[in-house]
Amino acid sequence: MTVYLVGAGPGDPDLLTVKAAGLLARADVVVHDRLADPAIVKLARPEAELIDVGKRPSRPLPQATINALLVHLGRSGRTVVRLKGGDPFVFGRGGEEAMALLDAGVPFEVVPGVTSAVAVPACAGVPVTHRGLSAAVTVVTGHRRVGEEADTDWEALARVGGTLVILMGVGQRAYIAERLRAGGLASDTPVCAVMNGTRPGQRTIRTSLERLGETPIEPPATIVIGAVAGLDLLQTTDGDGAAEGADHTTGPARP
Ligand SMILES: C[S@@+](CC[C@H](N)C(=O)[O-])C[C@H]1O[C@@H](n2cnc3c(N)ncnc32)[C@H](O)[C@@H]1O
Repeated sequence: MTVYLVGAGPGDPDLLTVKAAGLLARADVVVHDRLADPAIVKLARPEAELIDVGKRPSRPLPQATINALLVHLGRSGRTVVRLKGGDPFVFGRGGEEAMALLDAGVPFEVVPGVTSAVAVPACAGVPVTHRGLSAAVTVVTGHRRVGEEADTDWEALARVGGTLVILMGVGQRAYIAERLRAGGLASDTPVCAVMNGTRPGQRTIRTSLERLGETPIEPPATIVIGAVAGLDLLQTTDGDGAAEGADHTTGPARP
């Protein structure tokens, strides 16, 4: 009996690790999230039980319920794959699930995945570090549970330098931009937001810190702030791009 906490990568099934694909092919149960790409879930064998624990506004599923489910399934003696977007230990609450399994004495293994924090910018032609432009990268969540977690010190992050990669930051982007500017980050700092990265609907918007709040961005999106966000090494910009101060780019087609 083992529960595998498996990273599914940012969406494109080709970015799944070989180990993850092998585990999916032999799992008895696959517990997956809302963001899990259907093409990846389909890699599970036909007999496997699929359990969708995706949290959504209409059906909030507390993390404690998911933890309890994993402990229960782990004790059943079946091979369980807990499939999580990106890497399980990067804002994926994989650490909490591992702790619950550890406390319950259920054996588990972590299978790292390709995190969207690095792969999604890369698929839009943005390297998160680049010699001469950025020697550091900070990955930060734009979403904190008000009243439960201390607010992020955005002014301090503005002074760190290098690249800022913000996950779950769409809803708070105007507030974040304001705080970063208050911390001294220049208004014309390049910003690149990649929506649905590595998926067929991938879309990129390039803007500046000053215009980030008014730039239309839909989740899921990874927002990159810093000099590297001005790079477009894949040359995917598809037109005039000047509208509303943003360049619109599209992602690679998937067969
Ligand atoms: C709860 S976090 C999980 C991160 C995940 N564990 C990882 O390593 O990529 C979800 C956030 O990751 C980012 N994200 C995940 N998949 C993405 C994708 N395909 N395109 C753009 N951003 C993505 C978005 O910021 C989204 O709100």
